[in-house]
Amino acid sequence: DTIYVLNGPNLNLLGTREPEIYGSDTLDDIAGMLEDRARELDLTIDMRQSNHEGHLIDWMHEAQAVGAKAVLLNAAAFTHSSIALHDCIKGIRTPVIEVHLSNPHRREEFRHLSYVGRAAKGTIAGFGALSYLLALEAAARL
Ligand code: DQA
Repeated sequence: DTIYVLNGPNLNLLGTREPEIYGSDTLDDIAGMLEDRARELDLTIDMRQSNHEGHLIDWMHEAQAVGAKAVLLNAAAFTHSSIALHDCIKGIRTPVIEVHLSNPHRREEFRHLSYVGRAAKGTIAGFGALSYLLALEAAARL
């Protein structure tokens, strides 16, 4: 089974982007960590990043079309703005797990609303790179 891991805007900058909030791991580091665990779980990781909202939507449609087991989605700032992502998650049968490195509820008011979280199966946030690994554990058990 394949797990899609989709990352939104500015997450290509992980490692150097506000490390006091997001940690020093790069997206490649996180991909490596997920692949190691996925091997043990007999799963395949398909990890992608885009700064463009529509790519995330196309990739979720694709996840459903190829029969992916789940999508782990860190929609980054689109989390707090995108009704299109919300509708997409509702529109596919593939379970989507919302992931964040930081805990948006401890941060600015504008991060407290998640259009993604209101459609997702569940949310894991606040554990840095470990959030992704915990989300993979959840996905494996769905
Ligand atoms: C984030 C949290 C979002 O509020 C923010 O816009 C991001 C990253 C996280 O992983 O902590 O870009 O999704």
